[in-house]
Amino acid sequence: MKTRITELFGIEHPIIQGGMHYVGFAELAAAVSNAGGLGIITGLTQKTPELLAREIARCREMTDKPFGVNLTFLPTFAKPPYPEYIRAIIEGGVKAVETAGRNPEPYLPYLKAAGIKVIHKCTSVRHSLKAEAIGCDAVSVDGFECGGHPGEDDVPNFILLPRAAEELKIPFVASGGMADGRSLVAALALGAEGINMGTRFIATKEAPVHENVKQAIVRASELDTRLIMRPLRNTERVLMNEGVKRILEVERERGAALTIEDIHEQVAGIYPKVMTEGEMEAGAWSCGMVAGLIHDVPTVKELVDRIMTEADALITKRLAGFARS
Ligand SMILES: Cc1cc2nc3c(=O)[nH]c(=O)nc-3n(C[C@H](O)[C@H](O)[C@H](O)COP(=O)(O)O)c2cc1C
Repeated sequence: MKTRITELFGIEHPIIQGGMHYVGFAELAAAVSNAGGLGIITGLTQKTPELLAREIARCREMTDKPFGVNLTFLPTFAKPPYPEYIRAIIEGGVKAVETAGRNPEPYLPYLKAAGIKVIHKCTSVRHSLKAEAIGCDAVSVDGFECGGHPGEDDVPNFILLPRAAEELKIPFVASGGMADGRSLVAALALGAEGINMGTRFIATKEAPVHENVKQAIVRASELDTRLIMRPLRNTERVLMNEGVKRILEVERERGAALTIEDIHEQVAGIYPKVMTEGEMEAGAWSCGMVAGLIHDVPTVKELVDRIMTEADALITKRLAGFARS
């Protein structure tokens, strides 16, 4: 399938694997790229720019296809050394960067000068337009149903995607709630030129996370995620567990007076416990409502091939059958 997204990134299928903390290691990124999509290494999971350089080199040994790096600009006080992370990306010869979080504008000139294509993840039309205005090449439009940080506007993809299509000139992918061929075809119908998936890619054979995480996603229904940190305007969609129950209790008790310190224990340092150790009740980890559509743990290639085969059949048979002759 050819879209402006496949052309932009030099990939076969319009499927991107979004950056995921403690999931987006070289193994997953390479598997997605080898399957014809765009795999993405999560930059900040690597604790130093040197470690990121090593991870990029490791990924290059596993694939000769294009892959990218996610750089999340966090609202934290302890600012990671972004210029050095960017140097590692450029020197590693990476040609695609997924930015997320804060405005990437200060760093764009360096990425663009190195010929890197930038896709910025946005949860609103106004942020998407801003990304276009500052020179991003594409946008990942992340609806309210997404795993991770859906923003504070709560607009689901059935509205957000066509609204983005009405306003944007640069291409965009649909992110949040994407799982299968139906998602891809619906996203294309709503104006996107591909899909970005997070949660779905965790439940794959190659995702380098504990088996408990994959099984928790397979077991979960669309009703099992919760929104935390709303009072902090740093909303995150996470899978319900004992740690999340405690967070929600504290949030109810503290109300608008909530501070990050109140829930520090259940949100800080949780990812390695969950993703590496498989401690499923430890605390908050991002997960999308799309868990309700995930029923198996295929290889990445099986998943990507299945999505493309399903999408082809939907377009040429089901939808063509509805067209007026
Ligand atoms: C476990 C997990 C960790 C994530 N970590 C990050 C991250 O570090 N940076 C980022 O930009 N997005 C992160 N995301 C968001 C994904 O890149 C993607 O936008 C989102 O998962 C799409 O929604 P979906 O889960 O419904 O597919 C994370 C998502 C998950 C599920």
